[in-house]
Amino acid sequence: MEALTALARNCVFAFLTGCILLLPPAAAEEAADVATGTRLAELLRAARSVLSNYQSVINDPAVGDKHLDGERFTAEAIALYGKRTGVDLISGDLEARDHKLLRAQVEAMREVVDQRQDDINRPGIGFKGFVPAVFARLMNEKFATKVGNEALVRVTAPEVLVRNRKSLPDTWETRVINEVFSDPKRPKGDAYTEAAQVNGRPAFRMLLPEYYTESCLSCHGEPKGEIDITGYPKEGGKAGDLGGAISIVLFK
Ligand code: HEC
Repeated sequence: MEALTALARNCVFAFLTGCILLLPPAAAEEAADVATGTRLAELLRAARSVLSNYQSVINDPAVGDKHLDGERFTAEAIALYGKRTGVDLISGDLEARDHKLLRAQVEAMREVVDQRQDDINRPGIGFKGFVPAVFARLMNEKFATKVGNEALVRVTAPEVLVRNRKSLPDTWETRVINEVFSDPKRPKGDAYTEAAQVNGRPAFRMLLPEYYTESCLSCHGEPKGEIDITGYPKEGGKAGDLGGAISIVLFK
């Protein structure tokens, strides 16, 4: 639907400027951007899932060396991405841009996990606070230092839910969350895309909604205001509520 709306917009633009020939490439470019954005979001999700699956290992006070270094972590994230998407990240037939961006994402997650080794392997400590949301933010920050001129990946949330100020939504994200994702007629889970300016540069933007599941509620659920294991007050969320969004920017 959004692709169609964008197509219609391009159509009007092409008509007004008389360059009707621009239309197919513009539509093709948008399709490529959607594919790239989806891949970046899926690899981030795979990495978060791997970290989530290792929470009990990481938080086991009885074990020192967890044997969970960046090498093993990236291999598992790549494998999970392949299983979920049916695409082999390494040998897959990717465009040069996708190859570069996904590589940067893999290197970012590898560095975050490697830099956390002392923490992960510290015996005698239970909960380490290395939860998927923290990991994702650090990974996205590293990604930005590598390829931030070309692309940005962030996880944000409705403003009232945001725990870490670094993850506050910008004006565009707030608008999409409040005006688009709130529409009950809109199919749940559908990503929203738009051409927009970011830091004064033309860009393709994509916002993918994320909903709380039961597993999130020990921290984000009820009773609202009760302090969770990480030290933050719970948001009072319920399974199925919009809990956040992955935000992708691809600069033109
Ligand atoms: C163990 C507690 C815990 C669980 C379980 C948990 N979170 Fe969080 N979540 C946090 C913490 C802590 C932060 C702040 C991270 C940071 O410092 O960037 C956070 C941040 C977030 C953010 C980023 C925006 C913000 O508030 O800073 C989103 C979105 C989010 N969580 C969604 C989820 C979803 C969806 C789930 C379930 C799949 C989940 N969380 C499970 C503790 C948790």
